[in-house]
Amino acid sequence: MKRIRRVLILLTLGLTGTVLAGSLPRLPNDRPLPQGDGSPGVVTFRHASHVDAGKPDCTTCHPALFPILPRSANQAAPQFTHAKMEKGVACGKCHDGKSAHGFDDCATCHAAPKER
Ligand code: HEC
Ligand code: HEC
Ligand code: HEC
Repeated sequence: MKRIRRVLILLTLGLTGTVLAGSLPRLPNDRPLPQGDGSPGVVTFRHASHVDAGKPDCTTCHPALFPILPRSANQAAPQFTHAKMEKGVACGKCHDGKSAHGFDDCATCHAAPKER
């Protein structure tokens, strides 16, 4: 618990500093998300396409939508199921077909196995 709290405090300070300074930090690498049961292909989350370089704001997603808690790199995050996302959780907060593209076209997020 103590370690988790320390990570969260450091993260909060880092994110706040970034936003106040108004400068774009080095973004995390593209992140292939661990696949859940029956996932039709790897989904890669890209910070570059989600952070406005001119006005970077990490707090739209962290920590409320995506806590970035220490967890095994190949452990699927429990909130990444379509049942939850379609109720507005995680990616579903924006990918509702209005704020951002919805879930109808699988290939907009899931890479076809051959293309990887
Ligand atoms: C649109 C939502 C969104 C925004 C905005 C966002 N992130 Fe993330 N971030 C994510 C997601 C999704 C993950 C992966 C979470 C997971 O795997 O559970 C992540 C993971 C991370 C990680 C963990 C390293 C990794 O590669 O998984 C760090 C560090 C991070 N983000 C920093 C930032 C910083 C700094 C900003 C602002 C410049 C930012 N994020 C803005 C969604 C976002
Ligand atoms: C804060 C709102 C927000 C959240 C949360 C969010 N996205 Fe996005 N995403 C957008 C917007 C806006 C675009 C650009 C418009 C579009 O593609 O519909 C976008 C574009 C994308 C794209 C196309 C560009 C690219 O990077 O290839 C993918 C794929 C994507 N998002 C995946 C995800 C995944 C996976 C998650 C959850 C881990 C997620 N997004 C969470 C807002 C969001
Ligand atoms: C906006 C991005 C996005 C789109 C579009 C999308 N998915 Fe997903 N999907 C995800 C993410 C993120 C995960 C979690 C990572 C994983 O399991 O690959 C996921 C996981 C899954 C899973 C395993 C977990 C679960 O909910 O059962 C299945 C099955 C799945 N997707 C099927 C589909 C199908 C079929 C389509 C097209 C009709 C689709 N997805 C379109 C983002 C998306």
